[in-house]
Amino acid sequence: MAVVEKALSGHVQSRAGFVTETASHLMEAGGKRFRPLLVLLAAETGDRPDSDEVVTAACVVELTHLASLYHDDVMDEADLRRGTVSAHSVWGNHVAILTGDFLFSKSSELTAELGPDAVRIQAHTFTRLVEGQILETVKPVPGEDPLAHYLDVVAGKTGSLIATSARYGARFGGASPEVEAALTSYGEIVGSAFQLSDDILDIASESGESGKTPGTDLREGVPTLPVLMAQASTDPADARLLELLAGDLTDDGSHAEALDLLRKHPALDEARAYVIAQAAEAKAHLTALPAGPVRDALEAFADIVAVRST
Ligand code: FPP
Ligand code: MG
Repeated sequence: MAVVEKALSGHVQSRAGFVTETASHLMEAGGKRFRPLLVLLAAETGDRPDSDEVVTAACVVELTHLASLYHDDVMDEADLRRGTVSAHSVWGNHVAILTGDFLFSKSSELTAELGPDAVRIQAHTFTRLVEGQILETVKPVPGEDPLAHYLDVVAGKTGSLIATSARYGARFGGASPEVEAALTSYGEIVGSAFQLSDDILDIASESGESGKTPGTDLREGVPTLPVLMAQASTDPADARLLELLAGDLTDDGSHAEALDLLRKHPALDEARAYVIAQAAEAKAHLTALPAGPVRDALEAFADIVAVRST
């Protein structure tokens, strides 16, 4: 990870000092580096886990993710990211969006070093990321189950890149095609679980823990897993919450009331149980790997995602 970190600092450099400043902003702010970590971990299933290609692949996925955060914060009008002020709050939407584009271009340049298959995988991942993000802004089509719609959004906007992280790790670390396929399936489910636990944290955590402003999804009217589960309630005691959820939550008073009611609602634990079940499903794919410390670490990784607090 130290090697990846050093390489990442180099990749956010531009010939223009201002672009370097805007592109380094969120990189330097921290972040969990969850995706590159998964690349390195998955690479341990192969016979060349320390190859240069593994490090490059780790940078590709983190840069793609970082690019998407610049765009996401514009869309969500988020003030905070990684415990610091979001890029658009400092430089405005135009610079934030173009910085996201710059980082995605950097990621694409690096992907080209990994060959045509990696480019094809990356391109398809990007398609899914963007489709997921767009579908989040539209309601389910008539007759479509809202939960199924939401899970489809989550698989696209987060599952796709985390699946690719695991896949790249296996592929460039020299794992067999069978292990690469198993880790891709594992990554897809762990990735969706990661997003679902992020949704739970959006409701349950304070900004000091998450480095983000709580209740952002609620304010934006994005019905995430705990909200969808609360909306399925037929308990008359939930009438006020359901009324608030059906209305406009951009008003501070209604937003605070809805957040408070949701924090006390059993739907939050129901959502947590769903995520834990997803982690178990992801781990089932690891039976394709030999028993040992690498498999143990990947199992622990899925467990941590399910119960994470940041
Ligand atoms: C975070 O969602 C957003 C994503 C995981 C994907 C965003 C994808 C795009 C904006 C498409 C453009 C992509 C690129 C590569 C330029 P969230 O708002 O639920 O999570 P948060 O709590 O971290 O804000
Ligand atoms: Mg967001």
